Amino acid sequence: MPLPRTLPRIVVAGAGLIGRRHVELVRQSPECELAAVVDPAPAAASDHDSIGECFAAEGTDGVGVIVAAPNRLHVPIALECVERGVPVLVEKPIADTVEDAQRLVDAAEEAGVPLLVGHHRRYSPLLEAAARTVAAGTLGRVVAVQGSALFSKPDDYFDAAPWRREPGGGPILINMVHEVDDLRAVCGEILAVQAMAANGTRGHAVEDTVAVVLRFASGALGTFLLSDTAAAPFSWELTSAENAAYPHQPDADCYVIAGTRGSLRVPTMRLTTYPGAPSWWEPFEAAVVEVEDADPLARQLAHFCDVIRGAAPRVTGRDAVETLRVTLAIAEACRTGELVEIS
Ligand SMILES: NC(=O)c1ccc[n+]([C@@H]2O[C@H](COP(=O)([O-])OP(=O)(O)OC[C@H]3O[C@@H](n4cnc5c(N)ncnc54)[C@H](O)[C@@H]3O)[C@@H](O)[C@H]2O)c1
Repeated sequence: MPLPRTLPRIVVAGAGLIGRRHVELVRQSPECELAAVVDPAPAAASDHDSIGECFAAEGTDGVGVIVAAPNRLHVPIALECVERGVPVLVEKPIADTVEDAQRLVDAAEEAGVPLLVGHHRRYSPLLEAAARTVAAGTLGRVVAVQGSALFSKPDDYFDAAPWRREPGGGPILINMVHEVDDLRAVCGEILAVQAMAANGTRGHAVEDTVAVVLRFASGALGTFLLSDTAAAPFSWELTSAENAAYPHQPDADCYVIAGTRGSLRVPTMRLTTYPGAPSWWEPFEAAVVEVEDADPLARQLAHFCDVIRGAAPRVTGRDAVETLRVTLAIAEACRTGELVEIS
């Protein structure tokens, strides 16, 4: 008779906006069970105040930790997990700096502890379909990419977590890091960026609006507009329907990927291609790329359970360091006004 398989026991460290969603998903999942919630805030109604206290009380057998605490705590909490040999899923961004991120990656690799980073859109059927369409050559050679993350965050979003008003807590590290990861997943590595930032609308220390120019290793060029104070629906959050907390804008797109043979709008997945030689005098053939329906966060959790059982992480620490490097290069380009090459 096969032995009963014990389920991975998940600890969620940080029970804020995203941590509570992780807790909910763990509770709903048949593939794991919730071991504990760690959060020092009295309002969080957690089981433990620190990850160390949690390990002392719950042990580490079969445990995997999801780190959903503020950015600056990702590395210290993840390092405690690595030291105890506990697989860890670190929310994005992996760290505040490339140096800290690299320190964590090195420690995890040295200790042989699996490290997965929470770029959950990698599990999005929409993003997977976009990447497949580009890789299949349906668009020809990608020449131009246009993206936007334009939305309006309400004032209480900042009141609830004042760190979001300070450098490191703004839309470049909170939101653009997702976008950079999406662009890398679909269009490949980014070699150089230019950018301009403004903070005059909200008046916080951190940026509220950013315009970015990108050069990809493939030779493609891109532009990206980011604003958390724009009353507009052109963002992954509002168009993808992947998070029910946001009202869905079914007719809007957030990315346009244009190649020498055709172009794809994401997430409506409207595809326009030339059946013959490309020419602006010729009509396009129109189609819609089929996409299955699945919740990327739930798929990420299922993958983390596989990782705890020994599977290789799909979004490695090294991969996340590259996304962070580009994201921080955008911040640097805003500060210096210079073109920043990504080494
Ligand atoms: N993947 C996504 O789509 C997504 C979405 C939102 C946030 N995030 C990321 O998740 C992280 C948390 O963001 P948020 O918006 O939920 O923040 P939040 O401020 O709402 O929640 C953070 C929580 O961590 C708790 N905390 C503080 N110190 C802690 C410690 N030492 N141990 C455990 N918990 C601690 C706080 O009390 C708070 O409850 C950030 O890194 C953010 O970038 C990811």
